Amino acid sequence: APQRVAMSRFEPDKFINYQRIDDNLAVIRKRLNRPLTLAEKIVYGHLDNPESQDIERGKSYLNLRPDRVICQDATAQMAILQFMSAGLSQVACPTTVHCDHLILGENGAESDLARAKDVNKEVYDFLASACAKYNIGFWRPGSGIIHQIVIENYAFPGALIIGTDSHTPNAGGLSSVAIGVGGADAVDVMVGLPWELKCPKNIGVKLTGKLNGWTAPKDIILEVAGILTVKGGTGSIVEYFGPGVETLSATGMGTVCNMGAEIGATTSLFPFTPRMGKYLEATGRPDIAKASAQFAHHLRADEGAQYDELIEINLSELEPRINGPFTPDLMTPVSKMKDTVKKHDWPEDLNVGLIGSCTNSSYEDMTRAASIAKEAVGAGLKVKSDFIVTPGSEQIRATTERDGLLKVFRDAGGVVLANACGPCIGQWARHDVKKGERNSIITSYNRNFTGRNDGNPATHAFVASPDIVTALAFAGNLTFNPMTDTLTTPDGKPFKFTPPRGEELPAKGFDPGENTYQAPPTDRSNVDVVVRPDSQRLQLIRPFKPTQLKDYDHIPILIKVKGKCTTDHISMAGPWLKYRGHLENISNNLYIGAINSENGEANNVRNQITGEWDSVPNTARDYQNRGLSWVVIGDTNLGEGSSREHAGLSPRYLGCVAVIVRSFARIHETNLKKQGILPLTFDNPADYDLIDPTDQVSILGVDKIEPNKPLTVRLTKKDGSEKDIVVNHSLNENQIGWLKAGSALNKIVQDLHS
Ligand code: F3S
Repeated sequence: APQRVAMSRFEPDKFINYQRIDDNLAVIRKRLNRPLTLAEKIVYGHLDNPESQDIERGKSYLNLRPDRVICQDATAQMAILQFMSAGLSQVACPTTVHCDHLILGENGAESDLARAKDVNKEVYDFLASACAKYNIGFWRPGSGIIHQIVIENYAFPGALIIGTDSHTPNAGGLSSVAIGVGGADAVDVMVGLPWELKCPKNIGVKLTGKLNGWTAPKDIILEVAGILTVKGGTGSIVEYFGPGVETLSATGMGTVCNMGAEIGATTSLFPFTPRMGKYLEATGRPDIAKASAQFAHHLRADEGAQYDELIEINLSELEPRINGPFTPDLMTPVSKMKDTVKKHDWPEDLNVGLIGSCTNSSYEDMTRAASIAKEAVGAGLKVKSDFIVTPGSEQIRATTERDGLLKVFRDAGGVVLANACGPCIGQWARHDVKKGERNSIITSYNRNFTGRNDGNPATHAFVASPDIVTALAFAGNLTFNPMTDTLTTPDGKPFKFTPPRGEELPAKGFDPGENTYQAPPTDRSNVDVVVRPDSQRLQLIRPFKPTQLKDYDHIPILIKVKGKCTTDHISMAGPWLKYRGHLENISNNLYIGAINSENGEANNVRNQITGEWDSVPNTARDYQNRGLSWVVIGDTNLGEGSSREHAGLSPRYLGCVAVIVRSFARIHETNLKKQGILPLTFDNPADYDLIDPTDQVSILGVDKIEPNKPLTVRLTKKDGSEKDIVVNHSLNENQIGWLKAGSALNKIVQDLHS
């Protein structure tokens, strides 16, 4: 292994541990005696115990030692509150917190940021003081979006990173295995426990050819999403390889990995390439560039490595795509949009185009989009749609400002928002349409579930490359094909775009902009962390009590959910983000987005005791006041989307003991386990239809629960008759310990004190 180098310039005393990967792989190679994929090398290279660890892809649970934990401000609050309740003096693994989610986009960077600092002062002060106290690096509001800051400063080839945000995989652009987790997982690692992950399967994507013309890295993942769908990556790491990889920039690969979260993949990554080395150098890390080049044999798959599934994409033939609306896997090539839009009667006029975000705001993205805008502005055109730019980081903002790119966007009629998530996470005060009004928008973001960007269920959100978004903003129409169609200039001449041109890295180097980082002080003993008892935003955590057997006996169904149910449906974002640190208050959003199978409505369920119709949270609280626990019934891929542990915490807080579904999304299933809720799946998926919302549910055998042993759910029908169905759980020994202790955190505290 190469010489020791610091993991980042902010932690000169924390070193990259390539030696461990080397040592672990020596053991693993002997044991497995077969070629390894890149994902396997990095993941097994971080095993806590390579000698005795069970390794079977898709089956065993791995105990891992991540290099880093990253948290964004919305999820950090609960993670830190949980960490505090464990009673330690500092985090056991390098950790950073990033203030990006709580900034509402409305009028532009300066005023939006000033307002956010005011409105969120209490939360920012709490995070700043807790970070100082527990030795955590703190990135202030205005610093940028977590994933952009991580790829600029912290990700390195061969790293294992966990982050409390589902787009953590962005760091795969620097050959890191970076995985989105719930806050509870982050807490495990912050207190020094190994982190548990189901051994991922591997999907290989072989890239050949070379992108050209209008096609951008984004189109690779739009294509992959179309092929694999939102469920296709579940339980798998998507690994790119082949000659096409060398033709991509590190940040372009970051985009592909970032949006890999939309297919449910555990993460995505690329092998180390010289262009990653160039990016590391340009971002001030030449020593890491050198070390990873020396370590490159461990940073690519072995010859003959086996994938569970294989996809091949010829980049030379790939045409730009537009995915959406309402789901990121509904893929349409740009040339087919005209017909498709007409066929589905999607609103053709484009109200807003949005570029930037954590997914697509690299220097390359910005120069390409600016080349399009510049050409159009030069011909006298202005954007027809509203046009919004969110720079991914202060460094990108300062650099693109210096180089005149933001000016081009403003000249075209665009508005530059703060370096933050803004409209990407529903933090968008949109004024051009009313709630409920049908309209279309197009973004270079990653996620476009119903209501995601503006809380309006009638907004048709499409996802495309920044190039396509920019061109379409000038056309003001969803059906415009910049490769073939023309616009008309103010003096009546036809105008056709030439394909975009970009620069991978700034010729003058990056401008870091304002210093927005707060390092933890060396002497942290006097730092006070303040949580006011009357706060509406923050609430200290009390441990959950273990569930008793009687709590599984003849209990009501709170809601039988019909159809798609993402974490946004279970624990909505947007205005609710402000309560992320206050469990009591945020629980008022419990399942309010989910559709009740009984009436096809959201947030209207029948109270099975009183017969009254009421909101979901009110009904749950009523059961709880009566001393009754309850269950949720769900369909497939329940909890897809984000890593939000509130989707596990709120149900538990209001008395949920089990969620019974056809299938779960990975992170949500783990989050339920962590909070002491039983995630159960129907042995026979058709049994979903046997359940009436009025049934009483009893779960038998919880006291004798064992790994891989099904449980029985007994339904007591209204007429008193009974029906038994078989359900499965995926808890292992350790996770059964969480269930018995009442939560994973309870178990951690027990173990630390025993
Ligand atoms: Fe922010 Fe990116 Fe998530 S912009 S909301 S981190 S998808």
